[in-house]
Amino acid sequence: MTLTSNADPERGPWFLVTVDGRLPIAWDSSAVSSGMVQKLLGFGRLEGEAENIGGEVFFYHYHADVPFEGSQKEVFEVGDLVYWRAPEGSGRFGILAFYGNTTFGDGTAPRASSPGVRIGKIVADPEKIGRIPTGTPISIQGPDLGLGQVSFRSMDAGTKEDFALLQSIEELERPDLAGDVLALLTALANAPSVYQVNRLTHSLQCATRAMRDGADEELVVCALLHDVGDLHAPDNHAAFAATLLEPFVSEKNAWIVRHHGIFQQYYYFHHLGQDRNRRDAFRDHPWFADCEQFCHRWDQVSFDPHYDTLPLSTFEPLLRRVFSRPAWSQGSKSE
Ligand SMILES: [Fe+2]
Ligand SMILES: [Fe+2]
Repeated sequence: MTLTSNADPERGPWFLVTVDGRLPIAWDSSAVSSGMVQKLLGFGRLEGEAENIGGEVFFYHYHADVPFEGSQKEVFEVGDLVYWRAPEGSGRFGILAFYGNTTFGDGTAPRASSPGVRIGKIVADPEKIGRIPTGTPISIQGPDLGLGQVSFRSMDAGTKEDFALLQSIEELERPDLAGDVLALLTALANAPSVYQVNRLTHSLQCATRAMRDGADEELVVCALLHDVGDLHAPDNHAAFAATLLEPFVSEKNAWIVRHHGIFQQYYYFHHLGQDRNRRDAFRDHPWFADCEQFCHRWDQVSFDPHYDTLPLSTFEPLLRRVFSRPAWSQGSKSE
């Protein structure tokens, strides 16, 4: 693991951590007094070994003896980055990164075993910190080893080095896709509905039926998310869901989600004086039967308030696993 920092005069110093070069996490210290941070960075490279003790990842550094500045405390917030000193005389100093409630105290808050000073905030999902294994080499590098900045103000003036830099921090700027999708999904509970179940329950019921039918994890997640665009793209909600899922699922499953809207019309379009058989345009498609079954067995029947629908907590781990796959790794697209 490597932590690099960038002393940006406008944003203040910040840190970047990578685990095996694949898991960048930024810590933004712009919101706190940077005096102590600058002194810490004055030591050059700080090296240690990560210890993940539950709720907190830390490493000791035996030379970074910087007096506390600002308010000292023991209870912090998830996502806080803290400079910590062991009780007087032990000569131990360390960096703590909180990703959840620690086992110190009553276990209800991120807590240090003795006072520390907050020096920054984790920019990325704190869960990434939680996945850092004990024993991972960790180092903080000084500002001279910072990430730098691209040279261009218009893209056509960019250099090879600029785009190499952008590529290297692409992962850092990556949003928490699973968290964002979960937020879209839970918002469906508040969507106006004259169905006998709300839109979230419909989605959960669809996923429940898929799971009980023996569908694999990926297809269950597709069932869960097939209507996630209802609020944001009501005129092409199926395409919205398919676009979210496409990088992480098979081409077949993305196709099913993308076309479920047309296939679903079979169950109601004739009541509106329209052609219920628009799906027939795909009659010869190799995945016609799969999409037909998706709608017939799971989607069109999932409006039942008396069905034993499983809660979102059942599906969240599946969703997070699917969205943590490397994009386009399922053979659906080369890009
Ligand atoms: Fe739908
Ligand atoms: Fe649906």
